[in-house]
Amino acid sequence: METPIVKLSEKDLELVYEPSEDSFFLIDALESDLEVLKASKPVMCLEIGSGSGIVITALAMALEKYCKSYYLAIDINIDACKISKKTAVQNSVEIDTVQMDLLSCVNSNCVFDIIVFNPPYVVTTDGEILDDNVLSKAWAGGTNGRKVMERVFPKIPDILSDTGTFYLLVIKENDPEHILRVFRDLHLIGKIVAERKIRGEYLYILRFKKIN
Ligand SMILES: C[S@@+](CC[C@H](N)C(=O)[O-])C[C@H]1O[C@@H](n2cnc3c(N)ncnc32)[C@H](O)[C@@H]1O
Repeated sequence: METPIVKLSEKDLELVYEPSEDSFFLIDALESDLEVLKASKPVMCLEIGSGSGIVITALAMALEKYCKSYYLAIDINIDACKISKKTAVQNSVEIDTVQMDLLSCVNSNCVFDIIVFNPPYVVTTDGEILDDNVLSKAWAGGTNGRKVMERVFPKIPDILSDTGTFYLLVIKENDPEHILRVFRDLHLIGKIVAERKIRGEYLYILRFKKIN
């Protein structure tokens, strides 16, 4: 998968999560599944928390020759929405962006074939999630680092198409096995499809599908 060009000014770097090892790890995991994703001809693709837009842009660039898909990027940070859009344009792909608190305005009238989420996963106090600083919001995950991500879990079954795939990046402290169990109760089967140790952090990619 080609890595998108992401041009961030010094001002942008104060406003948005800079593409980091976790962003590249998620792109690598999508690349590993690319043949399957191409064959599935996704119509609707969603990234929750798009930041600079690097991940959804990489996905759109990789799939554009194979299928005409719609790409939607959500972020709570308005500057992330603007910068995601700019990143897509700079790489000649089209995405829509919406400033939104997670999936608050998405309902089951809209289902997605691919959903990706690199959430704020760092273990912090719950208070840090409420910090007004947009960059803190990009990483502060509260207790177990799961406080933000677990708000979307119950909604995933409603918005994932029957053949769709949900990719979630987590760290060891988030307890990936616990997350797999939570999804099993929601009738989604998941597994760890990639793991990587980066500067003392153990990162995992979890991939979920509906149990048919
Ligand atoms: C770890 S960053 C990932 C950014 C980008 N996807 C990447 O991989 O480089 C998490 C992103 O989630 C966004 N975010 C945090 N809380 C959110 C919320 N409640 N609703 C929507 N987006 C949120 C942050 O603004 C940030 O852009």
